[in-house]
Amino acid sequence: MEEIIIRKMRPDDLEQVHDLEVVCHPTPWSVTSFRFELENRDAILKVAVSEGRVIGYVCVRTILDVTHLLNIAVLPGARREGVGGMLLRNVLDELKRLKPGICLTLEVREANAAARRLYEKFGFRATGRRKRYYQEPEDDAILMERRGDPPGRPYG
Ligand SMILES: CC(C)(COP(=O)(O)OP(=O)(O)OC[C@H]1O[C@@H](n2cnc3c(N)ncnc32)[C@H](O)[C@@H]1OP(=O)(O)O)[C@@H](O)C(=O)NCCC(=O)NCCS
Repeated sequence: MEEIIIRKMRPDDLEQVHDLEVVCHPTPWSVTSFRFELENRDAILKVAVSEGRVIGYVCVRTILDVTHLLNIAVLPGARREGVGGMLLRNVLDELKRLKPGICLTLEVREANAAARRLYEKFGFRATGRRKRYYQEPEDDAILMERRGDPPGRPYG
């Protein structure tokens, strides 16, 4: 694969990001939802870019003393090549610098084995379940949490 750059998402990425979102999620975010997060100073949004094209993105937002992983996706044709991991690592590095020790949480479909494995690889652990949280198709949400990084600890 060509060189992949991880950088901050910009307003002019929104069209490509949304095109990718529609392909990656059964109930996609709107462009307005991405713009809302982009304008929120407590959110961090990154894109993975290859040959000038957005092939992945991640969005987290901190509310009080917890950071929520709200969205992550990689273009189907670019999966299993480390892009999701690069995005997650980049955000974790930034959080470690800006908010040392902060706890991260997320919800993931029980059936989403790829995402659950990715999160486990980066130190998230299942802490609970919300029955029938998702529709289209119906699925339980698995709640996952990652405790803040002690200094110097590698991510896995
Ligand atoms: C989840 C997702 C972002 C992973 O992106 P990716 O670029 O393929 O991830 P990586 O290549 O960095 O994989 C990192 C690790 O995740 C796990 N993983 C990723 N895809 C997997 C799969 N299909 N099956 C099992 N494990 C998988 C593996 O542990 C992998 O490490 P390894 O390759 O050393 O075994 C991608 O599958 C995706 O966009 N899915 C659709 C959107 C989505 O479900 N987002 C999450 C919503 S909560």
